[in-house]
Amino acid sequence: MSDSANIDDTLNELNKEIESASLHSDESIESFRIRFLGKKQGRITGLMKRIPEVDPGDRKAFGQRVNALKSRAMERIETAQNAAQTQAVTSNDLDLSLPGRTLPEGSVHPLTQTHRLIIRVFESYGFTVEEGPEIEDDWHNFTALNFPPDHPARDMQDTFFIEAPSDKHDGILLRTHTSPVQIRVLQSQKPPIRVIVPGRVYRNEAISYKSYCLFHQVEGLYVDENVSMGDLKHILHVFARVLFGEDVRMRFRPSFFPFTEPSAEVDIWWKDDSLPGGGRWLEILGCGMVDPNVLSAVGVDPERYTGYAFGMGIERIAMLRYGIEDIRILYENDERFLSQFA
Ligand code: DAH
Repeated sequence: MSDSANIDDTLNELNKEIESASLHSDESIESFRIRFLGKKQGRITGLMKRIPEVDPGDRKAFGQRVNALKSRAMERIETAQNAAQTQAVTSNDLDLSLPGRTLPEGSVHPLTQTHRLIIRVFESYGFTVEEGPEIEDDWHNFTALNFPPDHPARDMQDTFFIEAPSDKHDGILLRTHTSPVQIRVLQSQKPPIRVIVPGRVYRNEAISYKSYCLFHQVEGLYVDENVSMGDLKHILHVFARVLFGEDVRMRFRPSFFPFTEPSAEVDIWWKDDSLPGGGRWLEILGCGMVDPNVLSAVGVDPERYTGYAFGMGIERIAMLRYGIEDIRILYENDERFLSQFA
């Protein structure tokens, strides 16, 4: 940087190149930017770095000229970019009248839809929603519900134990039904009690088209003076009409649960012309009058209060309503399946 005539030539040369470069495409603009202003090899960048080496007397003038070149190069880039953009917008390839892309709409999972509908029916009858823990102790899940000590459900084969019961403590387990929440509610509230309890339950079962290691239930409990089996039949009939249609046929079939006496299972008539009788009875839930032993276990006077309870599987109801034949598909998150419920 000593010969000032030399420097002058270099700068003039650069100026000519900047002015004459043809910037007609994105690629040419980018290579122009790299050639002159690139951080490492850019020619103007190189000159800027060398400003400190210039003789003090010439430094200012040199600096000004290099800066002017830089501004001019940047100006050319900007103008060229604007031109390219305008051209893109007005070029014939772009049809501004085309409709925009619509985003695919999500759908509510069939289990959630069924769950919401069930809750809505009972809420309209004054039931409030309660929840309980999925990790339960043996006492709430079995003992307080009047399960005898040797009941098969207490076997590891059927229940996921987190801690097996021992002489020292009750077992800790994944609840096998929502019924233990009956106990929790009876412990924490005074009659009249009218609750609906949705939740996830777990069973150590072989996985197949009809059973999965987890599923959902909705439990109902109504405890007050003078609650009768007639009240139970009425509310369940209302429920069946909302979920399966006004003309649904329903029957109560005597059954057994440790925590209800008497107990029943409720079936609905499923029309199917391919079957000999034109259809068949399908079980949809279990129910009964709360066993006096259950009320006593939580300190509610069975002489004064009676109650009914019921429990149903949300998967089962959803599968019937929507004609789903394999429970596992509800847990596969397959978009082709889920989008049918939009
Ligand atoms: N807990 C029962 C089960 O998982 C279902 C059930 C039956 C719940 C009768 C109830 C009832 O509240 O009264 O199979």
